[in-house]
Amino acid sequence: MLDGLTRLEYRGYDSAGVAIYSDGALKVAKAKGRLQVLSDLLEAGAAIHGTVGIGHTRWATHGAPSDINSHPQVSRSGKIAVVHNGIIENYSALKQFLESQGVPFTSETDTEVVAQLIEYFYDGDLLQAVGRVLHRIEGAYALGILCSDTPDQLIAVRRDSPLILGLGKGENFLASDVTAIIKHTRDVIYMDDGELAVLTRDGVQCYNHFLQPVDKEISHVDWEIDAAEKGGYEHFMFKEIMEQPEAVRRAIFPRIRDGEVVFEDFGLTDDYIREIRKIYIVACGSSYHVGMVGKYNLERILRIPVEVSLASEFRYREPIVDERTLVLVISQSGETLDTMAALREARRLGGKILSIVNVVGSSIARESDEVLYTWAGPEIAVATTKAYSTQLAVVDLLGLYFARRLGTMERAEYDQILQEMLLLPAQMEQVLERREDIQYYASQYFNHDSVFYIGRNLDYALGLEGSLKLKEISYIHSEAYASGELKHGTISLIEDGTLVVALATYGRLFEKAMSNVVEVKSRGADVLALTTESHRAEMAKLANGLVTIPDTNPMLLPSLGVIPMQLYAYYVALQRGCDIDKPRNLAKSVTVE
Ligand code: M6R
Repeated sequence: MLDGLTRLEYRGYDSAGVAIYSDGALKVAKAKGRLQVLSDLLEAGAAIHGTVGIGHTRWATHGAPSDINSHPQVSRSGKIAVVHNGIIENYSALKQFLESQGVPFTSETDTEVVAQLIEYFYDGDLLQAVGRVLHRIEGAYALGILCSDTPDQLIAVRRDSPLILGLGKGENFLASDVTAIIKHTRDVIYMDDGELAVLTRDGVQCYNHFLQPVDKEISHVDWEIDAAEKGGYEHFMFKEIMEQPEAVRRAIFPRIRDGEVVFEDFGLTDDYIREIRKIYIVACGSSYHVGMVGKYNLERILRIPVEVSLASEFRYREPIVDERTLVLVISQSGETLDTMAALREARRLGGKILSIVNVVGSSIARESDEVLYTWAGPEIAVATTKAYSTQLAVVDLLGLYFARRLGTMERAEYDQILQEMLLLPAQMEQVLERREDIQYYASQYFNHDSVFYIGRNLDYALGLEGSLKLKEISYIHSEAYASGELKHGTISLIEDGTLVVALATYGRLFEKAMSNVVEVKSRGADVLALTTESHRAEMAKLANGLVTIPDTNPMLLPSLGVIPMQLYAYYVALQRGCDIDKPRNLAKSVTVE
């Protein structure tokens, strides 16, 4: 269990705990801090013996990180233990009710309400008691439940928070991610919303919300355990940065055949594509930034209006969506709660949902009309890198696929872009090979406490991602601005020694980018510039530091340009001694609102 939790620590890491049935009772061990603290407490597992248990790494929502607030949460008699991902939204009313019935609470968590409520309804049949609780709790939850009266079974419950079941030989598992159990089995069941499961050593039975048995499909996971391990690299983030050429190759190459973009099992018909009047791109964080690049590229080549919306805004803004609106949902994890809620809102309004997702079988993938997988493999570092690159590649392929059907692109241009796409992995390798230059600049500028990223068009979209990468892992305040906006306010912040990362890869606007560099330099800024090989000489005359990427079709520039952005953030964070794979306050999949 400790090993499984290690692989899930990227999802949350402010405290951890286990409950194990041992010598006739539940033994619970919990500790604030990283998993290592718990592991030490448990003498790496030797301290408690047992063959059934539940474990959890927490990311606090209700109640500060502390030993007591860690999961598992246990009912008053100590009989029932619960681990929980998500939020019980009506926990306060339920807690009041239970307290009025004389139930004492020990923690500040919403999860304790679940454990206490199960015990309140429990009359010897655990499944029935859990079923009754589910009709009373509201919110998002994946639950693992263990009761000392029935130590041969575990109960799993899922609503709006990921949960999978792993089928082994003489052993079965529940986990919120395949990575936790891949060492033991590759046969998994993806639980659907509202489902429960009873796991014993010998089998797994799933039930619907009404406790009627349901048959579930068994899926086979085909990636190797090495994919979820560091493989000699110091950090997952660096490993994943270095994996990008291969990941992008996997995302692109099988989808270009005989000079055409091909999507297997793709249900959007040519007639439907010709009827699309608007495209919404909905996502969060870096996936949203992919959407920003997508907007510039898709509008240019398709001449269809494309609106990019943060999922957390989209869901509450009464968006204008109808059956001629294609809603492109982008998510690495496929479990981001805001993105999921936006997807459901778009579906309710009649839109067609096409998702671009990395995690196979994830909730977003399963609830979409169509899915294009990015095939990036497991991404462990909280800061996304290879998922971003593969999402970008798939959005570009989708644009080209649509352009062919809509007749909005000359055949020669289409052929040329496909050729350039096939060169991308090798060009990415070239950019990675020159990483020492970036490491040098990071060593020069790592102590600046405020950084501005400026660019226009695709470079602005790229700047958004560069800035997010830097702030999330190095804790340096940074902002990305569309360069043309500088003079409308931001330029007042530029003073002697301010660091400006000037993105100037987009050839059509290179001269304008140069003017912006002059503008900030004349106010004292130090400028680190990114441009293409063909503009190197000109930019070198102005910038304090310069990194170049190979020339390619403009549409593909962000795919190359993002690598120096990632490396810069990585090396700065390394210089500053930050915990790169597990930045403070962040979790890999954000399954709460
Ligand atoms: O799994 P998703 O792509 O839906 O996640 C969206 C964001 O939470 C994610 O991109 C986040 O911004 C990353 N930490 C960025 O590196």
